[in-house]
Amino acid sequence: MLIEPLKIAVLASHGGSNMQAIMDRIGDGRLNARIVLVISNNSKSGAIERVKQAGLPWKHLSSQTHPDPTELDQAICQAMLESGAELIVLAGYMKKIGPETLRAFRGRILNIHPALLPFHGGPGMYGIHPHESVLAAGDKESGATVHVIDEQYDQGRVIAQRRVPVLPGDTPQLLQQRVLTVEHEIYADVIADIVAGKLTLPLVD
Ligand code: GRF
Repeated sequence: MLIEPLKIAVLASHGGSNMQAIMDRIGDGRLNARIVLVISNNSKSGAIERVKQAGLPWKHLSSQTHPDPTELDQAICQAMLESGAELIVLAGYMKKIGPETLRAFRGRILNIHPALLPFHGGPGMYGIHPHESVLAAGDKESGATVHVIDEQYDQGRVIAQRRVPVLPGDTPQLLQQRVLTVEHEIYADVIADIVAGKLTLPLVD
C-alpha cells in the first residue's frame, strides 16, 4: 500500500474521457494518485482543454514542436523523467512511444484498447475500427483491455479485461459507447490496484 500519491503522467491525443475518468476518481478521493504531467501531440485536443480547466501541468510535444522523431522521443522522455512520473497512462494517444521513453519506463506504461486483445488489435485498429471489426466477425462480446506498452502494437502484457455484450441491432457507434463506459471504470481500477499494492511496478521484468 502506497502512502504518497502515485505520480501519474498521461499522454492523450483526442477527447480525453479516459483521462477525465481518472481525474474524477482522484478528485472524489477514491484514488490516491496525482497527475504530474499531461502531454498531447494535439494542442487543440479536448484532453488539453480538460487539463487547462483542472489547472494541471501540460505540454504540447509533437512532430510540429520536434520534427525529428528521435528528438521528439528524447523531449517526451525528459519531460516524463523531470515530472517524477512513476506510471505513464496512454489515454487515446495516437502516436507510437519512442525507444528511449520505452527503455526509461519499461513496465510502467499502460494503454487501454477498446476490444478484447489479442483480437481486434494491431496497426489500424483505432477509433471506430475495432468496433467495426467485432461486428464484422459476428462476436458475441467485446470489451476493454488494459495492457503494458512494449515495442509491438497492442501486444504487451494484458493486465485486465472487462467484457460487454454485443447486442442485436448494434452499430459500431453503439458498441463504442458501451465499451467506453467500461474503459472508464477498468482503467481507474487498475491504477487503484497499483496504489493498493495488488499490482507491482514495473509490470514486466
Ligand atoms: C478509447 O476508446 C481508447 O480505448 C482508445 O482511444 C479512445 C480514447 O478515448 N485508445 P478518450 O480520448 O479517452 O475519450
